[in-house]
Amino acid sequence: MNRFSLSMATVIVGLSALGAATASESTWKIDISQTEWELAPGLKTPAWTYGGTVPGIPIAARPGDQLRIEVTNKLAVPTNIHWHGLVVPNDQDGPAIVIQPGSTFVYSFTPRETGTYWYHPHFRPVLDQLDRGLYAPLIVLAPEDSSYSGDRTFVLDDWYLDARGKRLPGTADGEMERFGNVETVNGKTGQAIGPLAVTRGERWKLRFINASTAAIHRLKVSGHRFRITHLDGHALAAPYESDTIDIAPGERVDAEFVADGEPGALYSITSDRPDLGISIPVVYGNGSVARVPSPFVPPDLRFLPGAQEKAPDFVLRVATLMGGMMQMGMGGSMGMGNMMGSMGSSAMGMAGWTINGKSFPETEALNVKIGELVKLRIFNDDAVTAGGHRMDHPIHLHGTVFQVLSVDGVAPAQPILKDTIPVPAGGYVDLAFVMTESGQWMLHCHVIDHEDGGMLTVVNAR
Ligand code: C2O
Ligand code: CU
Repeated sequence: MNRFSLSMATVIVGLSALGAATASESTWKIDISQTEWELAPGLKTPAWTYGGTVPGIPIAARPGDQLRIEVTNKLAVPTNIHWHGLVVPNDQDGPAIVIQPGSTFVYSFTPRETGTYWYHPHFRPVLDQLDRGLYAPLIVLAPEDSSYSGDRTFVLDDWYLDARGKRLPGTADGEMERFGNVETVNGKTGQAIGPLAVTRGERWKLRFINASTAAIHRLKVSGHRFRITHLDGHALAAPYESDTIDIAPGERVDAEFVADGEPGALYSITSDRPDLGISIPVVYGNGSVARVPSPFVPPDLRFLPGAQEKAPDFVLRVATLMGGMMQMGMGGSMGMGNMMGSMGSSAMGMAGWTINGKSFPETEALNVKIGELVKLRIFNDDAVTAGGHRMDHPIHLHGTVFQVLSVDGVAPAQPILKDTIPVPAGGYVDLAFVMTESGQWMLHCHVIDHEDGGMLTVVNAR
């Protein structure tokens, strides 16, 4: 039995060592506590952490490993953990569990699929916990991952802070969601972000995770192109090249980075809001190595037979009800997101974020059978007119993986498996999935203000 308690730096070494070994049992200890976290020299904030760092302890495993994760809650509030993207038994996933202050819960499950996943609290209101820094990668390694020149994970986040690093309540002026004024990569902002140090000829595996509660991140790499190999941890049959990665809350993108730049030169992976702090320096050493070939093996992935023609079993319409809020006389500056989070929309007798006109817990459950193909259509009814709240809703389903059948009626060029999908404002998506684990599974928007505000329902799998 191995006992790990790794920092972000040592896990990189750990990852390649693990890649070669065989399946085993591994035990992880995670203490959840408040920690002063340094986002940059001179900028500290009281964060909540998994094991003292932001992001928290990165869990690394191989498919078939039996994970035992001992979680001790040293906060003053109850919490739990959701293994975002992993298919685990229902009684081992966050929402079914409450870890009271001072107590320990031991999660135990075996990841079956390789990929980039992450974990975070699912105790509502989730925003109060996730937004304080409770998130971490969970990487299930594929055999080929150890053949890259290096394997790096970048967790993106944003923080809404005053100049001294104190966490500001609510939402910024004019915003209905909690967007930050400081953006981070692996808990660091601006100059404090550690560089990607490469040598010409190398091929790196980069994993991006968006842990922001509302912000979509758009990253652009200078002088290079990413080769996108995985979405939400799932390998693509046809990887594609792009210099841009768009990543919505909850999503993950894996990309190969071929170091074909100039030795000694400096490049960067920079967000479209660079003033908020996200820019990862890409630093070339001198010299070069023989060009590393891609170890990536594209899977033989097919469109689910019959799914495209099938009529939807469920049609959901997600929407933001602006009218209700305006009648209450509350603008963004009063912290709508925070109020919705702590009080719940239904408790206030008004709708905010809805599915088919209702906010959780009033939303209607989806009852499905284990092993049965389910087709789900989700419309984003948000107003696209001036003054309306125009926003894509990144919808996430627990307990399974879905195939994207179409976005706005257009099928993707290749089969795509995901667990979180942005439903475009004014548009719709068609998804197909099969539940394999029985129990009650959540389906919700991963903009956490919306999730806490009621854009959430459950899938009952029997
Ligand atoms: Cu990552 Cu239900 O959430
Ligand atoms: Cu949403």
